[in-house]
Amino acid sequence: MILLGLNIDHCATVRQARYRSVAPGAEPAVEPDPVALALQAERAGADGITIHLREDRRHIIDADVDRVRREIGTRMNLEMACTDEMAAIAKRLNPDSVCLVPENRAEITTEGGLDVVGQRDRVASIIDSMGEVGVTVSLFIDPDEPQIALAAELGAPWVELHTGSWANAYYVAEQRAVEFNRLVRGANQAHAAGLIVNAGHGINYTNVTEIRTLPHLHECNIGHSIISRALFVGIDDAVGEMKTLLNA
Ligand code: PXP
Repeated sequence: MILLGLNIDHCATVRQARYRSVAPGAEPAVEPDPVALALQAERAGADGITIHLREDRRHIIDADVDRVRREIGTRMNLEMACTDEMAAIAKRLNPDSVCLVPENRAEITTEGGLDVVGQRDRVASIIDSMGEVGVTVSLFIDPDEPQIALAAELGAPWVELHTGSWANAYYVAEQRAVEFNRLVRGANQAHAAGLIVNAGHGINYTNVTEIRTLPHLHECNIGHSIISRALFVGIDDAVGEMKTLLNA
């Protein structure tokens, strides 16, 4: 069975669009509550909850992170940049897993995978410090041979293959095949090296029918498409439909 990790960042994006300057708990009207959404999504079948605490706190804020840790019943996956600030937060929180991502202040969403090769020492030190507190580390990387090889060498137990280039090419047949083959090669390489293979970014209700055929796929982390669908059908059906499609 392919697991579904629901990324709730965009629920927080809607809240912050109106209530950025309101202190957590100061006003009862603040909505929508991403933690309430997470709890409902869990009841509808989400296997884990993912949040990305960004340096600029543009969607998820510190209070959300603490509440997710306390309140959810599945697994908490904290996406974070490779900074000392984030490593300290993760050590304090003890999420089930952290996913190390690149972070660039100007980007709208995470663009491109983490350059493990270029940041070898920093990534290695965060993997080691998370290991000390028993937090599983996933590296969000492009499906490129040297990145995957180094992820395995550094002892990260999981990788999340960045599916953004494939998703962007989805309606350009030739390019899509090139990108999908890259993902297949990457998944096979990662699996052969003993890594758990996850995937994420740009997965939606259409392209999921192809990504679910990726070999060795353990979990997909999906945010934007499910939150968008939930506006029309509610989070229960949005999660249920994606779980069904993932495992059809
Ligand atoms: N995985 C990672 C590492 C991400 O950074 C994101 C985007 O926040 C996602 C998955 C989810 O991507 P999307 O919102 O396109 O489903």
